[in-house]
Amino acid sequence: KLKIAVIGGGSSYTPEFVEGIIKRYDELPVDELWLVDVEEGKEKLAIVGNLAKRMVKEANLPIDIFLTLDRQKALYGASFVTTQLRVGMLEARSKDERIPLSHGFIGQETNGAGGLFKGLRTIPVLLEIADDMVSLCPDAWLINFTNPVGMVTEAFSKYSKHKKFIGLCNVPIGVERGVAEILGIEGERVRIDFAGLNHMVYGFNVYIDGQNRTDEVLNIFARNSASVNMENIDPMEWDGEFIKALRLIPCPYHKYYYKTKDMLGNDLEKFKEGWNRAEEVKDIEKALFELYKDEALKHKPRELEKRGGAYYSDAACNLISSIYNDKGDLQVVNTLNGDTIKDLDENNAIEITCKITKDGPIPHKFIDRFPIPIRGLIHQIKAFEILGAEAAVEGNYDKALLAMITNPLVANDKGGRKMLDELLQAHKDYLPNF
Ligand code: G6P
Ligand code: MN
Repeated sequence: KLKIAVIGGGSSYTPEFVEGIIKRYDELPVDELWLVDVEEGKEKLAIVGNLAKRMVKEANLPIDIFLTLDRQKALYGASFVTTQLRVGMLEARSKDERIPLSHGFIGQETNGAGGLFKGLRTIPVLLEIADDMVSLCPDAWLINFTNPVGMVTEAFSKYSKHKKFIGLCNVPIGVERGVAEILGIEGERVRIDFAGLNHMVYGFNVYIDGQNRTDEVLNIFARNSASVNMENIDPMEWDGEFIKALRLIPCPYHKYYYKTKDMLGNDLEKFKEGWNRAEEVKDIEKALFELYKDEALKHKPRELEKRGGAYYSDAACNLISSIYNDKGDLQVVNTLNGDTIKDLDENNAIEITCKITKDGPIPHKFIDRFPIPIRGLIHQIKAFEILGAEAAVEGNYDKALLAMITNPLVANDKGGRKMLDELLQAHKDYLPNF
């Protein structure tokens, strides 16, 4: 019996995932889909769950959908467990974005101060789920979409008793599709070798129909100051000379690091007028749930594309199908470094193109060190992830402080500490270890 459990099943993204399952039924014949949520998310779960049931019925497929608040029951006997939860819901995200901006720093839910706090709240919960899996579904793969995916994967590596975990993000597939769009060709024709960390991943080699066309694509990129965009990050073009010198394709999140001043100025201006992304997402969600409630709706609505998670269902379902079918194709995931990148530890999490097999991802070794221009930044963020993961588990103030202050988007001792203290206070209900 092929059973998939989705933790955080009441998420507005669930129809995206269900659509992916439906599309692939021939190769991935799911028998049971369990959508799990917590008491606070009960209402959303019922609405999304009913839409999921209508979608499956419309497609005429024998997939049983179960809605439950009982996580143990959902995990029991599962083959795949996906986690897409948000500890403290959008209200907590809003604080992660707002408080740093009010201190004059980047306010982003997965980078800098906001990313640290999302990690501190999330890691203990995800580790509990992973531990439950040891007895309830020891053979299942845990596929985590919950941010910050890099810090979370780092925490799994160090602390999880369940060892079959993978971190997944839609950025790599989004960049591939974005490059295809710039070239004016179909998305499926482009494959890129990626390496780096989550939300800090670089495209190294670009293949079109299997042919290495990296130089050509980088030249087009540089000449047009092109940039791949995502709904949740302001479109801002790269300087062509920078791309020409770097000879790598940065990801949209790199704008926070290579355009810090511009991004901060831009976000602060909007923030002064009352904006933050969490509030924007709240509005999008409200509208989405109104649509989901409509009994006449039997497919994923287009409005979902206003969220940053485009192609996430393709990424997730391709991954699950390749494990299930032992395909051995190449996909980008967060996994353990092993002996891939020589200057990182073996148990460090990296985001890299991998061969996907029934035994999980095997890094595709197209580089063995990061090039000098990006090595330092990657190491700095890796240190941030390690410190953040340790702080989350130990409830260690000093490690949280060091994660905060050494993050390049903060880089300020007194300001960083003040911000840390305010965030600790603001999130205290969701930080039992502190
Ligand atoms: C991208 C990232 C995700 C992130 C999302 C935010 O898809 O890869 O990790 O969760 O953007 O989108 P949102 O619509 O919530 O701002
Ligand atoms: Mn992501």
